[in-house]
Amino acid sequence: MEKATQYELQLARRMSRLGTETAFEVLNKARALERQGKSVIHLEIGEPDFDTPSNVVESGIDALRKGWTHYGPSAGLPELRQAIAEYVSRTRRVKVTSDEVVVVPGGKPIIFFTILSLIDEGDEVIYPNPGFPIYESMIHYVGGKAVPIQLHEDRDFSLDVNSLISLINGHTKLIILNSPQNPTGGVLPRRDIERIANAIGDRNIMVLSDEIYSRLLFDGEQHFSIMSVPGMQERTILLDGFSKTYAMTGWRMGYGVMRPDLAAQMTRLMTNSNSCTASFTQVAGVEALKGDQGSVDHMRDEFQRRRDMFVAGLNKIKGFSCRMPKGAFYAFPNITRTGWKSKPLADALLEQAGVAALSGTSFGEYGEGYLRFSVANSVENLQKALDRIDEWTKKNL
Ligand SMILES: Cc1ncc(COP(=O)(O)O)c(C=O)c1O
Repeated sequence: MEKATQYELQLARRMSRLGTETAFEVLNKARALERQGKSVIHLEIGEPDFDTPSNVVESGIDALRKGWTHYGPSAGLPELRQAIAEYVSRTRRVKVTSDEVVVVPGGKPIIFFTILSLIDEGDEVIYPNPGFPIYESMIHYVGGKAVPIQLHEDRDFSLDVNSLISLINGHTKLIILNSPQNPTGGVLPRRDIERIANAIGDRNIMVLSDEIYSRLLFDGEQHFSIMSVPGMQERTILLDGFSKTYAMTGWRMGYGVMRPDLAAQMTRLMTNSNSCTASFTQVAGVEALKGDQGSVDHMRDEFQRRRDMFVAGLNKIKGFSCRMPKGAFYAFPNITRTGWKSKPLADALLEQAGVAALSGTSFGEYGEGYLRFSVANSVENLQKALDRIDEWTKKNL
């Protein structure tokens, strides 16, 4: 209960334009049901269920003991910026120097800072829909015009480049890409990325390329970044981080790679907001990038195994049909043949079947007709969730 007060809360107008990430709301609702004694399988939240690799944990503990408990430079520790520059140079086949790297607390601040530093009122931003809800939220927050580009199931959730071309105009300031994608698990094929770069041509449009799932690609696929397309590096802000790759969501560490003049501006935003990313976290980040990568491969293989069994199971359930996601750790089944809308179906599955999933509409208007399940859970729990959904559909459809 909120306390009664004689002082009305007078929020700034811009706060009414800020959106949210429904995953946290559904998690709260699921926890409330659990407190009432209900059993819930959590497939709503997007984080690896693995522990942070032990070499990284040890490095963080060691850093704490050695006194890495003070402020550091706003753009990040030089050792970590250098390690990231080398990593991105190697994986994206471009030349990146450490003054092009800004370390921030998670991948999210790069979305926040990119939009805050580049978008004025009325500027247009093209972004994927269904897509990570924070893009649209932040575009609205700063008074920009949010221009959704629809992702199509029949293209394995890639976009139609001709539609993208039709959305670009003189007001377009930023295009957001996300591959592998949340919520669909779609991966933009290299030829589509090259065609997008071609469509941008020599226009002065920036691209925010959200590659937070770049190491979670299945079936031996190779990641490809628009930053690697000749001529695009200067106009690309690459977002990547540690949350998904190294199961470090709670450590809060991510980074952006961008031209140095923009990196300097994002560093000013860091100075004004966070001062810096936690110092011991960054020491552990160097170990994550430079140490043994076996746990990353293990996690990816495990997600692939779970994806295979979960998607096969979904496709046996009445009214559900699910494409095989090529990356990330989500399944995004089409549920239109259930005759239900996404939100009521997600609510019913949570309340009546004890399975927490997200409505596709949590990711924008084009998410209607879909649900998002995270497969970052044990095979046993995933099987239990499939059984519960199957039973529910048999009773209710
Ligand atoms: C597409 C996408 N970008 C960015 C993020 C943010 O990641 P972080 O937890 O590192 O801020 C997420 C997290 O769910 C995501 O799905």
